[in-house]
Amino acid sequence: MNESIVIVYRSKTGFTQRYAEQLAGELGCAAWAERDAGPERLRGCRTLVFGTRAHAGRVDGLKRALRLQRQSSARLVLFVTGAMPGDAAALNAFWRQNLTEEQLREIPHFYLQGGLCYERMGPVDRFLMRGFAAMLRGKKDKTPEDEATERAIAHSFDCSDPAFLRPLAELLREAP
Ligand SMILES: Cc1cc2nc3c(=O)[nH]c(=O)nc-3n(C[C@H](O)[C@H](O)[C@H](O)COP(=O)(O)O)c2cc1C
Repeated sequence: MNESIVIVYRSKTGFTQRYAEQLAGELGCAAWAERDAGPERLRGCRTLVFGTRAHAGRVDGLKRALRLQRQSSARLVLFVTGAMPGDAAALNAFWRQNLTEEQLREIPHFYLQGGLCYERMGPVDRFLMRGFAAMLRGKKDKTPEDEATERAIAHSFDCSDPAFLRPLAELLREAP
């Protein structure tokens, strides 16, 4: 068991959990749900990988990730799953609105496309998604991206692929 790396994940509909478990399998380290991770359990870990979802443009649970990192003194590596395809410009804007300049430099951060799962979504999230869909429907002068998003979020979908983990797994193998 590789005890120098621990993966902690926050996952509501399963995409982040699946990536976390695949990564743990590749690296031979532990992957714990956020509720099972505390500073005591992280003792001895040198790299804390925190996996979470994008939520309304934010990194869900970023404060928790930073707190765990401070408490454990481990290096923090972040991965975020989301529904957006992850083109460079959109991703750049996403990271810039969530991380400070210093964090962008210091915290390796990765985006892994997941999907959407209405079946496993809680009522609040479903409500928010309905609002987002209605906003897009009512928008005048829709861009091609708006139209693609509107079509994509009409149903559950799964674009996740274990291959998306490759750059993150490589970093962790090179500098565990
Ligand atoms: C209310 C809501 C807001 C979301 N906002 C974003 C977003 O801003 N960007 C994005 O790429 N995905 C967004 N998503 C999609 C989730 O990030 C995506 O489904 C993620 O993979 C879920 O991870 P989980 O299954 O581990 O909970 C949103 C989903 C919900 C329900």
